[in-house]
Amino acid sequence: MSKVKNPKLAKKGKLSYEWARSHMQILDQTINRLKKSKPFKGVTLGFCLHITKETSVLLIGAKELGAKVAACGGNPLTTQDDIAAFLASQGIHMYAWAGQSAKEYDWCIQQVLNHKPQILTDDGSDLNIKAHFGKKSKSLKILGATEETTAGVNRIKAVAKQGKLRYPIIAVNDAQTKHMFDNRYGTGQSTVDGYLRAMNLMFAPKKLVVVGYGWVGKGVAERCHGMGSKIIVTEVDPVKALEAHMDGFDVMPMAQAAKIGDIFVTCTGMTSVIRKEHLITMKDGVIVGNVGHFDVEVDANFLLKKSKSVKEVRPNLDECVLKNGKKIYLIGKGRIANLVAAEGHPAEVMAQSFSNQLLSILYILKNHKKMKKKVIPVPKEIDVQIAKDALKAMDVKIDKLTREQVAYMNSWN
Ligand SMILES: NC(=O)c1ccc[n+]([C@@H]2O[C@H](COP(=O)([O-])OP(=O)(O)OC[C@H]3O[C@@H](n4cnc5c(N)ncnc54)[C@H](O)[C@@H]3O)[C@@H](O)[C@H]2O)c1
Repeated sequence: MSKVKNPKLAKKGKLSYEWARSHMQILDQTINRLKKSKPFKGVTLGFCLHITKETSVLLIGAKELGAKVAACGGNPLTTQDDIAAFLASQGIHMYAWAGQSAKEYDWCIQQVLNHKPQILTDDGSDLNIKAHFGKKSKSLKILGATEETTAGVNRIKAVAKQGKLRYPIIAVNDAQTKHMFDNRYGTGQSTVDGYLRAMNLMFAPKKLVVVGYGWVGKGVAERCHGMGSKIIVTEVDPVKALEAHMDGFDVMPMAQAAKIGDIFVTCTGMTSVIRKEHLITMKDGVIVGNVGHFDVEVDANFLLKKSKSVKEVRPNLDECVLKNGKKIYLIGKGRIANLVAAEGHPAEVMAQSFSNQLLSILYILKNHKKMKKKVIPVPKEIDVQIAKDALKAMDVKIDKLTREQVAYMNSWN
């Protein structure tokens, strides 16, 4: 915790916050528009998000709108200490530092809940799961929550399916202005950044295996292709596999891709997609990493615990010498590489994601009495407004349907 109260780090974090805020125009404008009326006055908000400079803009924004804010990191390894220190210096109750143990991470989540937040904002649903099934969960009075990512939405949908959801949760990930941009272009770019910082090798002309061709996989494939890699996609969904094939990429099962790939990026949100049986057949010297939310996609346990030797050869890059003598290089211990080895998504794309978050929190505050205990989409008007604001910020103008076109659309003869 000492890092959280550190004036030198806080000063550094302030500069990063200012840089991010100046590139998150639509979020900044939304905060400034709402600031006077202080809509969050008297409300405690609990956040469980990767503590990055972009997140600091959302948290400071929530405070400027009148909220009391408590926050922890969305992952034990992804907190940027300078940002946590800056946020703590601004009166935000911070429970986050880089390199936490699983126990410390869990403790931090509980500290956020101890503030008795009325609305939760989560990334991966660790906060929501504790608010539902943790020891002190019964004493909480939560009006609603928002969820940032695909993996988290899948988890809360599983809770809802069992009829155990205790409050409404807005699936922010499912807004078009979120997943079509953040998951695709944000992860695409920041994955290149994370892999480069970890390995600093050429992407070209290596064979790069993208595991999963959803929103994240599509972005990773496109951006790594742009860097000169030959892309191979593995999938389980026939439609996505067909799409990857039509996009010009080789598609094959992992058992085959494992033997020929040079770099691997898992993007599925699924467990055990690169297993021991794949790892032992890989070429000597391959780079393996994950950008799905949880560290369950690559069998990191096998690499880190069952190898002949393991040594960190560069920051966030472990050389694992297998019993068969081959070396496999694992990025960030199999955790979300674009955040562990780099800084996560660029500010512009997070402006869209976090505008969805801020407006969804406001929506819950105003509408919670009529909302059902369900996983619900971001209201369409919020999604459309964010797209309009983003276009305006980039000075892009579009056409409107004419009256004749509207009539044509509504006619059948
Ligand atoms: N790194 C980041 O910053 C970041 C950003 C957004 C989302 N995410 C996370 O990335 C993951 C993927 O998100 P998404 O939005 O692309 O989800 P998605 O549902 O759009 O795509 C996942 C894809 O993986 C495929 N898949 C599932 N099991 C597979 C297997 N065994 N082999 C090959 N493919 C398989 C699915 O068929 C699907 O096409 C989630 O965990 C999400 O939370 C990470």
